[in-house]
Amino acid sequence: MRPAKLVLLSILTMTGTAMSQTSVTKAPFGKLPNGEVVDQYTLKSAHIEVKLITFGARITAISAPDRAGHPGNMVLGYDSLAAYLADTKTYFGSIVGRYGNRIAKATFSLDGKAFHLPPNNNGNTLHGGTEGFDRRNWTAREIPNGVEFTLISPDGDQGFPGKLTAHVRYTLAGTALSIHYTATTDKDTVINLTNHAYFNLSGSGDILSHQLTLNADRYTPVDSGLIPTGKLAPVANTPFDFRAPHTIGERINAKDEQLTLGLGYDHNFVLNVASSSQPHLAAKVADPKSGRTLTVLTTEPAIQFYSGNFLDGTAAGSFHGHDNMLYAKRTGLCLETQHYPDSPNHPAFPSTELKPGQTYNTTTVLEFGISK
Ligand code: BGC
Repeated sequence: MRPAKLVLLSILTMTGTAMSQTSVTKAPFGKLPNGEVVDQYTLKSAHIEVKLITFGARITAISAPDRAGHPGNMVLGYDSLAAYLADTKTYFGSIVGRYGNRIAKATFSLDGKAFHLPPNNNGNTLHGGTEGFDRRNWTAREIPNGVEFTLISPDGDQGFPGKLTAHVRYTLAGTALSIHYTATTDKDTVINLTNHAYFNLSGSGDILSHQLTLNADRYTPVDSGLIPTGKLAPVANTPFDFRAPHTIGERINAKDEQLTLGLGYDHNFVLNVASSSQPHLAAKVADPKSGRTLTVLTTEPAIQFYSGNFLDGTAAGSFHGHDNMLYAKRTGLCLETQHYPDSPNHPAFPSTELKPGQTYNTTTVLEFGISK
């Protein structure tokens, strides 16, 4: 090999190594009332810094530069464990489970048997019950470029059948944060895990000028309890059509029964590529103010777009959020990759059942960028 080629090769190899190298550091974040320690892990690549805590296996902060090169945080969260303990409403950054989103009337049948869950949302069960996975202190271990969180949910936990062992792996490579979920059970059960981060790519103000694209021709309309009616409705000619980019604020106050029921967007969009083993494009967000962008890819069949309608600045009592912010209505948006809400009560929806011997296995990738 000629020397010039050799030099080029070693530069390319060095760049490749720098791109994929992520540092992982651990520090105590706080103590739970029972004395258990909550740890914080910081993942740092050349571009992005991600902070995670064991309480709820949650993302507390993601920082990336804006178009002027200034780093800033892009997710809603708090600086103290006390604030996370006080806030039982928002699920900021957490892993929600065992069943993310709603199960109607807090009940479902499996193998001919009825299971009853704690009702915590107008008679329905939201995000796995009153003590969902977001309120658990997960165990954690460092893995290459990231952290693996593990939770063992006992048989009968919040009414769900089967002992479930769940792992959530966050890994950071360059500008992409991957979230990989696996789980096994010892009895037939249902499962729907997702991350509940609220994004605000500007880091302040509301999200109404963020531009959203969703790779979905259809969505699942809801009733007054935000439970799917069972229909799959076309988005065409409705404020739910995000197949081309629209700002979130453009049609959010349009006269539309579904927007009225959701107090804005709080709906499950059916992705055009149903589940696949490779993550496929689900959503894109672009913030003209900061220049920051987010692309969401997933192996899941659907995505919940929630425009932060229930935020009212009081979720954590007197605690403020990062940068002393009070998180008011629509200051953050969620893009929760998932199976459809209330699937256990809708045999026609893609199944959320998990049986002994099977492995639940899904991946979602959050890719951050800058548009000039
Ligand atoms: C739901 C909202 C709910 C929010 C709780 C979202 O996943 O779709 O209806 O209010 O979680 O923070």
